[in-house]
Amino acid sequence: MTQTPADQDRIRQLTEENESLRQQLKECQKLSSVGVLASSITHEFNNILTTVINYAKMGLRHRDDAMRDKSFDKILAAGQRAARITTGMLSYARSSGSRQEPRDLVELMEDVLVLVEKDLQVHRISVDRQFASHPQASVNASQIQQVLLNLIINARQAMEPGGRLTLKISQNTDTGFAEIAVQDTGGGIPPEKLPQIFSPFYSTKQADDQGQGGTGLGLSLCRDIIESHRGRIRVETVVGRGTTFTLKLPAVQSVQSATDEANSAVGQPPLSRAS
Ligand SMILES: Nc1ncnc2c1ncn2[C@@H]1O[C@H](COP(=O)(O)OP(=O)(O)O)[C@@H](O)[C@H]1O
Ligand SMILES: [Mg+2]
Repeated sequence: MTQTPADQDRIRQLTEENESLRQQLKECQKLSSVGVLASSITHEFNNILTTVINYAKMGLRHRDDAMRDKSFDKILAAGQRAARITTGMLSYARSSGSRQEPRDLVELMEDVLVLVEKDLQVHRISVDRQFASHPQASVNASQIQQVLLNLIINARQAMEPGGRLTLKISQNTDTGFAEIAVQDTGGGIPPEKLPQIFSPFYSTKQADDQGQGGTGLGLSLCRDIIESHRGRIRVETVVGRGTTFTLKLPAVQSVQSATDEANSAVGQPPLSRAS
């Protein structure tokens, strides 16, 4: 059957609408995942304000220099912690566009951890950071943060109190891929459910006491995002033992490490670097 120019226009229009709706869905999912953290972040701000208020009172009451210095130090640290959270939240919520640029994956992970740390603490989940190197990949930072947050929240929801979240970041120099693993000690995924977990709207989560169930969109969008970065997402799971999601992203060499390598090839030491 031949397509008329009118058919072709209609197809083009529907394709554009489809793309725009997918983009909107991604943005909505991004905000809904941060919604899961709203209560823990609000509690964290309450704690920060309590610290600020108590040390301000103490500084006013005790007029000796040592006590005032201590009070200012505590107030400053609390203020800086609050600023890290709001900066993290603003950068997470920023509309992502489609621009990709080289970013340090460890830094992206740390920015996500600032948002989710309190939630993990409330649920008594310990975090083991195993960052063997600082690989860079050309990414849309906000989208990759969305993937990391989804995987970490899924991991937390799969675990009982006392669970352990292991985060690994490394670079596989043979394949040229940077790898990120998010590993939990939760209940695992039964073999009959495994084929469905990346399907849109597939969720096994019931609404909890705050009315938050699953949308079933997290993993499907994670896969979309990783594939749009020419990467891979893989899952390994053992029922009763836990689950590991591994992301592979094509690594890019940072200007600095390229210079170091070139220097060492001609027998010069790498430039020293402030950290
Ligand atoms: N770390 C995990 N451990 C166990 N099951 C998981 C894990 N991550 C995802 N799942 C399963 O995959 C389903 C789909 O996940 P997702 O797409 O993020 O949707 P949602 O979290 O809204 O349910 C979950 O409902 C759960 O059954
Ligand atoms: Mg999820």
